[in-house]
Amino acid sequence: MALGYILFLLATAISWTRADVDPFFNDSTFDEGAYGPYPQKSYKSVGLWSPRPNILQWDTQCEDGQYTFWTPRGNRVDEAGAMILDSKGDFVWWRGGYGQVYNMQVQEYRGELYLTFWAGDDTVGGHGAGYYYMLDSSYKQVHKLGAANGLDGDLHEFQITPEGTALISVYEVIDGDLTPFGHEKDGKIWDCLIQEIDLATGKLLFQWRASEHYELTETQREVPNPDPFDFFHLNSIDKDLKGNYLISSRFTFTVTYINGVTGDIIWILGGKRNNFTDLSGGKATGFMYQHDARWSDDYTTITIFDNGAEDWHYVEPYTRGIRIKIDQEAMTAELVTEYANPHHIYGMSQGSLQTLPNGNVLMGYGNTGAMTEYAGDGTVLCDVHFGPETWFGSGDIQSYRTYKFNWVGRPDTKPDIAFVRSDDPASNETSVFVSWNGDTEVRRWVLEGTDDVEAGKWSALNEVARKGFESQILMKNITAPYVRARGLDKDGKVLGETDAWNWKEPKVSYSLPISRSSPSTSLNHAF
Ligand SMILES: *[C@@H]1O[C@H](CO)[C@@H](O)[C@H](O)[C@H]1NC(C)=O
Ligand SMILES: *[C@@H]1O[C@H](CO)[C@@H](O)[C@H](O)[C@H]1NC(C)=O
Ligand SMILES: *[C@@H]1O[C@H](CO)[C@@H](O)[C@H](O)[C@H]1NC(C)=O
Ligand SMILES: *[C@@H]1O[C@H](CO)[C@@H](O)[C@H](O)[C@H]1NC(C)=O
Repeated sequence: MALGYILFLLATAISWTRADVDPFFNDSTFDEGAYGPYPQKSYKSVGLWSPRPNILQWDTQCEDGQYTFWTPRGNRVDEAGAMILDSKGDFVWWRGGYGQVYNMQVQEYRGELYLTFWAGDDTVGGHGAGYYYMLDSSYKQVHKLGAANGLDGDLHEFQITPEGTALISVYEVIDGDLTPFGHEKDGKIWDCLIQEIDLATGKLLFQWRASEHYELTETQREVPNPDPFDFFHLNSIDKDLKGNYLISSRFTFTVTYINGVTGDIIWILGGKRNNFTDLSGGKATGFMYQHDARWSDDYTTITIFDNGAEDWHYVEPYTRGIRIKIDQEAMTAELVTEYANPHHIYGMSQGSLQTLPNGNVLMGYGNTGAMTEYAGDGTVLCDVHFGPETWFGSGDIQSYRTYKFNWVGRPDTKPDIAFVRSDDPASNETSVFVSWNGDTEVRRWVLEGTDDVEAGKWSALNEVARKGFESQILMKNITAPYVRARGLDKDGKVLGETDAWNWKEPKVSYSLPISRSSPSTSLNHAF
């Protein structure tokens, strides 16, 4: 024992460097595709990949301590899944294995925060057939919810209310008369349903059907393939303090306010039955193919991701976010703020607009691998591309929505560690790499050594501040054969430790190419 301890005193671990590869900053060759369709970085300690984005514009206002939640998938994304980045864009968490993942958020249920998302099959015709998942702060799955009445849960919405209910979107094939469109009388349509379900019991509390409140002819969509005809396309559901619902439907160009008891339509914003006088010459009610309609500003405004620049229509010159002031007495609508990306993105499908607690606005561009944070007045603060601008529209890197939330992640796994010996055999140097998928709380990593793992007497070799996802500690002249790393929180409490490794027989480390491109494999049908 004594000898072992003395040997530790000989050990000298010197310096640390940030192991993560930095993002690109306003790199025009990135946007020309010089680094491939989806530049990524890998890690030594664990076989995970994370985006290496191009940050075109940055403001420290965006570093608000919140995390970014997105669900990468697409032609150039090897495996679809759920990903968390921190407010500086550093990688925090990844999980695949669910199939297609959509709409990741942090939501409160019975006083606890959960990671929530939809996963399942998105090839059923522009929507989804799957389930809604809730993970706790250790990333353990604690709830899996399906739609009621034997129907499939759709990918577009999963909103947990303060009453502990879930608002979900559901698509169902029903009969429809398609003669107004020059098709058969006994045709088929996709009906769209709101379901409100009690999370604890799975009991259906409320259901609403678009086909009982909208005429098929209110669609704004051509009918290229009426089999079944998706005339409405529900894609967001919000509920207010009065218990009424606010829904967005892409193919009628409408936001509909629905009585939460009777299901009657109270009013419609936009579309063929618009109830509002537009005080902004059409700019408040003229949105098209829109997504993510939300009450904001204490129920006085509605925010919308306006896909008016949608692929085969190009009505608007570019995708925009809009904040519309709603006067429910005078029945007027007025454009308050427009959130316009300086690169004039055409968000062909999907997309999100979130008003952050400080009044900033985050837009995720859905089909297009980009996100932008705006000040409340529409000024661009931070602008990030996950893939080259020249290939926007290809669907290479998509995320249905992109949101920011506060989050505390305490994984129930062990941190990962790898040892990489210097190429110079004379140098006596080994780099130790440490990471912990999903952790948000470790502030320092302590490297410890022992010559006898069984005896369990460990001594500290070195300590480094955690920077980014993977931290690097350089070891020099280490004699202790066994090494482990422990993660400490801000108070010095041990949150987790790696297995003990004989660093002289290092485990295989992962290669570190700067970017990775992959062939087009997955199909992405949702919009
Ligand atoms: C990004 O680079 C372009 C030139 O390629 C320049 O015009 C622009 O001002 C730069 N943006 C920032 C935020 O530095
Ligand atoms: C909205 O318009 C419909 C007619 O399309 C009308 O019946 C209804 O009363 C209007 N609602 C409001 C709140 O003005
Ligand atoms: C490497 O480290 C060991 C242990 O401290 C020491 O005995 C040895 O001399 C060192 N070799 C070199 C080349 O520094
Ligand atoms: C490592 O060991 C070698 C040989 O004993 C010695 O010359 C060198 O100073 C040591 N390096 C450190 C950083 O202690």
